[in-house]
Amino acid sequence: MLYPVIICGGAGSRLWPASREKHPKPFLPLPDGQCLLQKTLLRAIRLQGVKDVLTVTNQELFFTTEDIYQEVKKPKDCELNYILEPFGRNTAAAIASAALHLLRRHGPEAIMLVLPADHLIQDEGAFAEATRQACLLAQEGLLVTFGIKPTHAETGFGYIEADTSRNTEHGLRVKRFVEKPDHATAQSYCAAGNFYWNSGMFCFQAGALISEMRAHAPEILDAVEVTLDASPARDNEKLLRLDATSFKKVPDTSIDYALMERSHRVATVPCTIGWSDIGSWSAMCELVEADQDGNRLTGDTVSHSAFNNFVHSPDRLTALVGVQDLIVVDTPDALLITHKEHAQDVKHIAGMLKQSG
Ligand code: GDD
Ligand code: MG
Repeated sequence: MLYPVIICGGAGSRLWPASREKHPKPFLPLPDGQCLLQKTLLRAIRLQGVKDVLTVTNQELFFTTEDIYQEVKKPKDCELNYILEPFGRNTAAAIASAALHLLRRHGPEAIMLVLPADHLIQDEGAFAEATRQACLLAQEGLLVTFGIKPTHAETGFGYIEADTSRNTEHGLRVKRFVEKPDHATAQSYCAAGNFYWNSGMFCFQAGALISEMRAHAPEILDAVEVTLDASPARDNEKLLRLDATSFKKVPDTSIDYALMERSHRVATVPCTIGWSDIGSWSAMCELVEADQDGNRLTGDTVSHSAFNNFVHSPDRLTALVGVQDLIVVDTPDALLITHKEHAQDVKHIAGMLKQSG
């Protein structure tokens, strides 16, 4: 049986002001009206044999998550379960909690498919096929990643070096995993030809994840075990609330640094699935069709002698006159105006506002 695990947390600071700590990127409606979290759930329940989807998220996001899930039509026999965190402790903690919980309920061979709630996949058929291959590799006890052919030297992603001498029937063994390299290193990886971006999705048996964590990140696993023991879950309950006192002691690091960089049992399924991280407003822009002047406008927006702009203004009439290459994002309490060239720098604003409280 396959158990999708949706992980949802983090602020997505390059999508400020629409993405905030209390309203992070997975909840942000896309131009088609659905948010990334909804799309992730849909993608999970459409996979064959899925009867139980586990979501690991912050307790403050629980009601919003439930509301968003209620809008998704799902088969009656598909259960939605939750692990609620008192605060974010990053992805190693979130994934280890899910693995231990599933192992205790369904045994070490339960196959988990970890799905981050913060990206888009446009070819669901190809995704389902890649998942099928990943499950076969996971059954061999491997930690399976989904490799995306890189298009540029992005420094915000993990890089997977395939070991071309050890191809297997369903994917490739991994020689090295490097999380968020610097620009020059990312450039050399892109030029090498046998590197992939890590999509952030993973597939493994719960038991394999636990035993690799025991070998490479025992301090995380131990602290998560203590937390689960202190967070009693009744069999018929769909919620597991993590105990805050013990969860606070779990090291705050990502699964990529804690395990993927260290394990020798990593594999990858290279895939072309229309994956996009929607990491900044430039990526969001691509999802909206351009008008005859190259403007990509959502909401009630009018333009005159304005070219190649992007406007996200769901609540207010916006007018553009004589401007070009701008990104305008209007929300009830904050307005962003930036040049397209500076889309990546928006994260500094979220950082500055956090510092000034
Ligand atoms: N439950 C929970 N708790 N979820 C979390 C937490 C947490 O504390 N922190 C992050 N997440 C969720 C985010 O919502 C997102 O869906 C996913 O975990 C990944 O976290 P990010 O913080 O967005 O990671 P990243 O984008 O910097 O890097 C990861 O994704 C890249 C691809 O998008 C890495 O796996 C990279 O290697 C990868 O290339
Ligand atoms: Mg991300």
